[in-house]
Amino acid sequence: MDIIKAPRGVRDVLPDESWKWAYVVETARKVADAFGYDEVHLPIFEHTELFSRGIGDSTDVVEKEMYTFKDRSGRSLTLRPELTASMVRCYLEHGMSKRVQPVKLWSVGPMFRYERPQKGRYRQFWQLDVEALGSGAPEVDLEIVTFAVYLFGTLGLSNLEVVVNSVGCPACRPVYREALKEYVGSNYDELCKTCQNRFERNPLRILDCKNEHCREIMKESPGMVGYLCDECSEHFQKVKEGMSLLGISYKEDKNLVRGLDYYTKTAFEVLSGELGAQNAVCGGGRYDNLAEAIGGPHVPGVGFAAGIERIVLTMEGQGCDFGRKPGIDVFVAIADDSARKAGLKLLYDIRRDKVSADMDYSGKSLSSQLKMASNKKAKLACILGSAEIQKGVVTVKDLASGLQEEVHQNSLMNHIKQYIVR
Ligand code: HAM
Repeated sequence: MDIIKAPRGVRDVLPDESWKWAYVVETARKVADAFGYDEVHLPIFEHTELFSRGIGDSTDVVEKEMYTFKDRSGRSLTLRPELTASMVRCYLEHGMSKRVQPVKLWSVGPMFRYERPQKGRYRQFWQLDVEALGSGAPEVDLEIVTFAVYLFGTLGLSNLEVVVNSVGCPACRPVYREALKEYVGSNYDELCKTCQNRFERNPLRILDCKNEHCREIMKESPGMVGYLCDECSEHFQKVKEGMSLLGISYKEDKNLVRGLDYYTKTAFEVLSGELGAQNAVCGGGRYDNLAEAIGGPHVPGVGFAAGIERIVLTMEGQGCDFGRKPGIDVFVAIADDSARKAGLKLLYDIRRDKVSADMDYSGKSLSSQLKMASNKKAKLACILGSAEIQKGVVTVKDLASGLQEEVHQNSLMNHIKQYIVR
């Protein structure tokens, strides 16, 4: 019988990578604290309608990519393909409009989309999601973009490009939609099949097509900015002014529409050259009508999500630092059997002091234990035998230099701590 493997497009994050993820999430947590965002944990699956109504029936995500199943009572449930709709549901369900607005939340966890797997694109992937709910002020859009920029800056990423656009609102978008259809109509026969299907149902999605020929045609298409109503135009202006004020360089892209239907006004992405075709490290924007689409009152919101796999890939590509490398501080090695109990006790004394420590439980020779210590990337070995016990000392060996010295048991913890902060 063949060994059962993980399904296509999903991956195990092993210890040689998981510490990098932890660094990214810890950094995000610090930036979230600095910006005043609180962490929430949301369900992995939700009622299917939340996504079909929230994200939009004619989007690729809802049409082709959702993992939807019936539970045992016949209810249609979907593994979350993203977090924004869930965040808004959570806000509504818990009456958060009574709190100080905007309510600022962030979350991290796996999302699921049935996409064709490739570098940086998976069927289960992790997102850091940041949302500000309950305010329509352009300063909040600015805060969201800046959060993303500061996060990537703190992680040491460089050569990123912030791309912005405004996708308008239900007042001005229909006019633009018609102008776009008129332009596209005269090139209809040249469009790819998918875009021909999009023509009636969702013509704005043609702007997002990855087909080279469609992109060429759309280069000359009219842009939404020329059709924005006064309110959307002023809003966009203020967001851009804010970015200039904060020194955030950005590029305007008239064809940036994003793949989810809930966006209004600001849409933005942060792109990296490191990622090839899947070049968006993060994407986001404003979604003032999403709460109504899922049955709630008007709650404006803005946010972004960044893929952890893509952040880590970009950081690796740019040789960024991931903080402390994995490995333990201390390996307790036993020189002879009579020291085994004292060694076990020492191991837990060290661990209780929040210093990472390990030992061998299988009775290996001292030299094998020291090999094990280097495999575990320990900094120090604390060697304990009958001679040490008699003298009340521990032989402390620096595993990088090979130098060793006897340290009195009473001053051992101080010695270890001084050493490991070096
Ligand atoms: P999105 O652009 O669909 O937006 O996804 C955001 C980010 O998730 C992408 O920029 C990418 O880094 C990552 N991502 C998306 N799909 C995959 C995949 N298949 N494999 C690996 N990484 C992926 C949203 O999800 C919106 N909810 C963002 C948002 C929040 N808008 C407002 N608030």
